[in-house]
Amino acid sequence: MPFPEIRLRRLRRTESLRALVRETSLDPGDLIYPLFICPGEGVRNPISSMPGVFNLSIDQAVREAEEASSLGIGGLLLFGLPDSKDEKATGAWDDNGIVQRALRALKQNSAAKKLVLMADVCLCEYTSHGHCGVVLQSGDTYEIDNDPSLELLAKTAASLARAGADIVAPSDMMDGRVAAIRRALDADDNTNTPILSYASKFASAFYGPFREAADSAPQFGDRRSYQMDGANLREAMREIELDLVEGADMILMKPAMPYLDVVHAARERFGVPIGAYQVSGEYSMLHAAFEKGWLERDRTMLESLVGIRRAGADFIVTYFAKDAAKLL
Ligand code: PBG
Repeated sequence: MPFPEIRLRRLRRTESLRALVRETSLDPGDLIYPLFICPGEGVRNPISSMPGVFNLSIDQAVREAEEASSLGIGGLLLFGLPDSKDEKATGAWDDNGIVQRALRALKQNSAAKKLVLMADVCLCEYTSHGHCGVVLQSGDTYEIDNDPSLELLAKTAASLARAGADIVAPSDMMDGRVAAIRRALDADDNTNTPILSYASKFASAFYGPFREAADSAPQFGDRRSYQMDGANLREAMREIELDLVEGADMILMKPAMPYLDVVHAARERFGVPIGAYQVSGEYSMLHAAFEKGWLERDRTMLESLVGIRRAGADFIVTYFAKDAAKLL
């Protein structure tokens, strides 16, 4: 007879009891803070759909990094807004590209240097058409051409590693990119640079605000021919399996909150470190509710992050990183 002998509420009576039996931890070191780097000096352009998020020039990014470091945050994930865009995404693989320059500046700063510097590897912020790969156009139809994209992605990753990236994180979803990137890194003697692959990245409406922040909305069509269908869990497991075979050291799942079952399934199945990306739309929708007074900011934010950890993520990429770290 479980009740009345057994009463689960006994262990919930005080905060110290609750802390003692808490199953999931959340530390600032588990959090990765994304930054959007833009040209100029002294620039802090607010992103209207993401309160508290800015396009930052390199000097301002260094200041953010110093703050992130003092808060004990685990690392940064860098995105770039280049001076100009073209068909070949030159700004992505240029050794003098915006993120490459930011990495060199961050590596010279003693506080920022303590953070794990992750560089997103993708072409969409750098191509004139806004797609993540090379576009093959014929008349009214177009295709994102997989194999020629690999060369550009590999060049991008190699260049970012040379500039000081501690980790390269391909988010393009072309087939075979992890192997191509591994080869390019190794050919450059960057055998020690890990690859964090966005292995199961779903074609999601939750990326909407990011495309304002990174100025990377596709000029035509959508990303559904390369990003995954949100209905597919088994296919997500295949994507991860293949990326690991190709040499991915860690995997990143994205979005997070609407896909916690995918994070959990990956955790059960694979022994590698797993990150989850609480993406722009997840951040924006919570903020909208905070601004309306419909949800309590601090508790909701932490609950969303604990939920992602409990599903199985070792670390979380989140725009809440600084705010959450301050509370923790
Ligand atoms: C680049 C990339 C995107 C995100 C991360 N890397 C946008 C996209 O695929 O459209 C989204 C991140 C976010 O929404 O916060 N391919």
